[in-house]
Amino acid sequence: MNVFINKRIPEIGINMLKEAGLNVIIPENGNLVQEEWGEYCKDADAILNVGINKFDKDFFDRFPKVKAIALYSVGFDHVDIKEANARKIPVGNTPDVLSKATADTAFLLMQSVARRASYNFQKVKDGNWDLFDPLEALGQELYGKTLGIFGLGRIGFEMAKNSHRAFDMNIIYHNRHRNEQAEKELNATYVSFEELITQSDVLSVHANYTPEHADLFNKSVFEKMKPGAIFVNTARGGFHNQTDLYDALTSGKIWGAGLDVTNPEPMSQDDPLLQLSNVCVLPHVGSATMEARSGMARLAAENIIAFSKGEKMPHCANPEVY
Ligand code: DGY
Repeated sequence: MNVFINKRIPEIGINMLKEAGLNVIIPENGNLVQEEWGEYCKDADAILNVGINKFDKDFFDRFPKVKAIALYSVGFDHVDIKEANARKIPVGNTPDVLSKATADTAFLLMQSVARRASYNFQKVKDGNWDLFDPLEALGQELYGKTLGIFGLGRIGFEMAKNSHRAFDMNIIYHNRHRNEQAEKELNATYVSFEELITQSDVLSVHANYTPEHADLFNKSVFEKMKPGAIFVNTARGGFHNQTDLYDALTSGKIWGAGLDVTNPEPMSQDDPLLQLSNVCVLPHVGSATMEARSGMARLAAENIIAFSKGEKMPHCANPEVY
């Protein structure tokens, strides 16, 4: 069975596939765009995909031999699940192994914005190390403040736990379902969306992205947030309207923003958000730890190996396919 992997992943995953007797094809050029995959995909039975490449009707029509997709991500918003289901193509993902790393990134962004870390680091790099100025670039403390989590699943829970333990933050959340574990262990309170946006000192997005969420955090939401609030997004850039976010940050409607995801990605170097001192942007590196990335390689390989044996993928985004 041929497995196409579009970019090198940690060896553990590649070795597992090879040991299972699968023929692994990885292009020399790790920066191939999806339009350049043709020669590799035409004979592939399964694809292990790194990144947000689109798997839609057009892709499945072009490569009918492909019968399984193992994503190297927990998010699967770039896959047309209906099309995959119609063709009985299982789509694997990598939950859990990256929850802590991604939550740590949200926690890092929250603190970086609260203490203007990236702005101050840039000043040092630019040779502007001012003498101690009691009024310059003051941050804010997070102790006892309210953290609002939009989407309290595995990653949201880890962010809530970190923040509650480190800063004794009061946790409120809005979610499709109540999270009993968070209510019990972290004293988290379920609130309406309106309460979430009006009561949070830090609002952190952790939900799975679907098209209905497009631009959910927009002008009308930012206007209702507290003027001292920090907006953090480590989920998907589509959740926020970036122009409205810029306006909210420059007009003082909100205090700061930390983003690991942008809209679009990659973000343009000229994006006006990058000029702001109250913003920290990272290039979608939420899961970029050795531990998480190895775990993702293992889970993706487990999914392909199960498929190759005619078994159910153990970590499957569309279990209804079986
Ligand atoms: C994920 O796993 O969904 C990350 O955001 C990488 O795409």
